[in-house]
Amino acid sequence: MLLLGKNVLLGVSGGIAAYKTPDLVRKLVAKGASVRVVLTSSAEHFVSPLSLQAVSGNTVSNDLLDPAAEAAMGHIELAKWADYLVIAPATANLLAKMANGIADDLLTTLYLASVAKTVVAPAMNQQMWQAASVKRNIALLSGDGVEFIGPAAGEQACGDVGPGRMVEPQDIADYIDNITEVEQTLSGKTVLITAGPTREAIDPVRYISNHSSGKMGYALASAAKAAGANVVLVSGPVSLSPPAGVERVNVDSAQSMHDAVMAKVNDADIFIACAAVADYRAIDQAENKIKKTSDELTLTFTKNPDILKDVAALPKAPFTLGFAAESQKVEHYARGKLEKKKLNMIAANDISIQGLGFNSDQNALHVFWPEGDKVLSADSKTNLAHTLISLMASHYNNK
Ligand code: PMT
Repeated sequence: MLLLGKNVLLGVSGGIAAYKTPDLVRKLVAKGASVRVVLTSSAEHFVSPLSLQAVSGNTVSNDLLDPAAEAAMGHIELAKWADYLVIAPATANLLAKMANGIADDLLTTLYLASVAKTVVAPAMNQQMWQAASVKRNIALLSGDGVEFIGPAAGEQACGDVGPGRMVEPQDIADYIDNITEVEQTLSGKTVLITAGPTREAIDPVRYISNHSSGKMGYALASAAKAAGANVVLVSGPVSLSPPAGVERVNVDSAQSMHDAVMAKVNDADIFIACAAVADYRAIDQAENKIKKTSDELTLTFTKNPDILKDVAALPKAPFTLGFAAESQKVEHYARGKLEKKKLNMIAANDISIQGLGFNSDQNALHVFWPEGDKVLSADSKTNLAHTLISLMASHYNNK
């Protein structure tokens, strides 16, 4: 209930995901926030002001020039009232106006008039999300201190599949709740994070990999960004879009992930190794597709470089937070890795528990450092990432 007593101004623009905003209001109110809602004129086609008024308990505003609304709480007063300005869903059009200082309706005027922390959940068609102008506007807004949550990837209302879906109301509410705690603890720091699986080629069409989805690592990137850090995300192949404002470097194999990390690590204050890196690769990668001529096929593997170990061994090593994916004797193996790889911290997950760990939205962690440990019980990866970043930041800042 970190939002208890906080004022959240929710701005809703005209996308199909606006129908989810009554649920978002309910979730913010459940966390103790006072919520007021402002709609753009196109948002009213997707959600009724009356529903939002019923769930928020407050009049819903939509018109900059409405004398009755201005008499109740003027727009400047409303801008000052807000501790957080949450815009969900945010269309490409709204982002363009915000990025360029256009204030031609109540919501864009409030954005300009408010000093509240602004969190935006974009929602649009996947092709629009990838348009150069949208990317430019996102970069401008990130530079202005606006934080982004999402978008998520998946099937869209228009039938397309890809990034552009509004993040679910629960995750937006959790995100706002969490930033009240982790705010700016990593301000001015650079955090380098690995995420996702690696792929080790066998021939031009086949590879060996694992079930990592990248969700844990991407949630950490988002949480570190929310804590004020400059974040570089070295990512194996996943279907997630990078959190806004985060620099992503795409890699494939363990060797390419190692190279990318080594190219960036000198600028990093903190290194978080969340990727599920293949420990071995095939010694010989066939130049042509392997034919099924014999009944058995033997491949010989050789060890990949250990990225985390190599970073921790650098003369000017950053603060290192490793992960340990274990299916038995979790504490024993995690403590072993902490010591052997000379890490500052390690977060262990028991991957034998159904519904947690690899490729799920939930996880549970047991975090170890040389002098202590802390259990972070099962929760969404978004929430766990904020708690872990906050715990890690307090150790880093006391170092
Ligand atoms: O991606 P998700 O679907 O969200 O799933 C999250 C996760 C389960 C992948 C994540 O929480 C996790 O546990 N990541 C680490 C997985 C792993 O490879 O663990 P490990 O115990 O094998 O490796 C120990 C540490 O060394 C890890 O920090 C790993 O990134 C690092 N490592 C391992 C091998 C290698 N060659 N280089 C490395 O840097």
